[in-house]
Amino acid sequence: MKGVILAGGTGTRLYPLTKIVNKHLLPVGKQPMILYGIEKLRESGIEDILLVIGAHSAGLYAQLLGSGKEWGVRLTYKIQEEAGGIAQALALAEGWVAPGEPVAVLLGDNLFEDSLSGYINDFLQQGSGAKVLLKQVSDPRRYGVPVLQGGRIERIVEKPADPPSSYCVTGIYLYDGSVFDIIRTIKPSERGELEITDVNNAYAARGQLTYAILKGWWTDAGTFRSLHDIADFLLKEGRP
Ligand code: G1P
Repeated sequence: MKGVILAGGTGTRLYPLTKIVNKHLLPVGKQPMILYGIEKLRESGIEDILLVIGAHSAGLYAQLLGSGKEWGVRLTYKIQEEAGGIAQALALAEGWVAPGEPVAVLLGDNLFEDSLSGYINDFLQQGSGAKVLLKQVSDPRRYGVPVLQGGRIERIVEKPADPPSSYCVTGIYLYDGSVFDIIRTIKPSERGELEITDVNNAYAARGQLTYAILKGWWTDAGTFRSLHDIADFLLKEGRP
């Protein structure tokens, strides 16, 4: 299985830190943020990784990561020209992921403790569809929130004012080979982006969206507070 890490975007919530350096290259504890996702994929046996990045900081990515050899992976880079959303960034992986092949997708600012191996095995046994990983959070309104029904996800509501559950859909997604066809069917949202939640909802509408709940810590390091907290936590724990 191949892996894709989405590491573009403008990181406006972290401005001016992100004025000269892309969010995913900012330090978190002892290493740049992007390395956490690369390590998680490699630990689970995924060595072919596509990084979708913006033109901004592209040279810095190459300088830091190169071919990926130092980190035990083979890296390919694609440039997302415009800020068209997470699903549009993922669409750039079509072709690099062979037709019909499954793919693991991470948002580069999602840092977490669990190993992905078990979830990937369960997903591969599932055979088709998609799987997302959930985490209980105190502020679900910031995220995609699932409506859970009989062990499945009925649908996901993006940044709901009135959350239907206390879970957040994390930026860890496992998709079958139909994901690129699904992306072609979705329309831009009100904020003009192709939303990953619409992709997931297309699977949910087919009854093909399964989930698991993360056991360990998880954070989205995209705000000053969460970036500071996770760095502090990792250093106190003596990691990485
Ligand atoms: C994105 C997704 C959201 C998900 C979150 C996880 O939100 O749209 O569904 O819960 O990542 O980090 P964003 O961070 O782009 O606002």
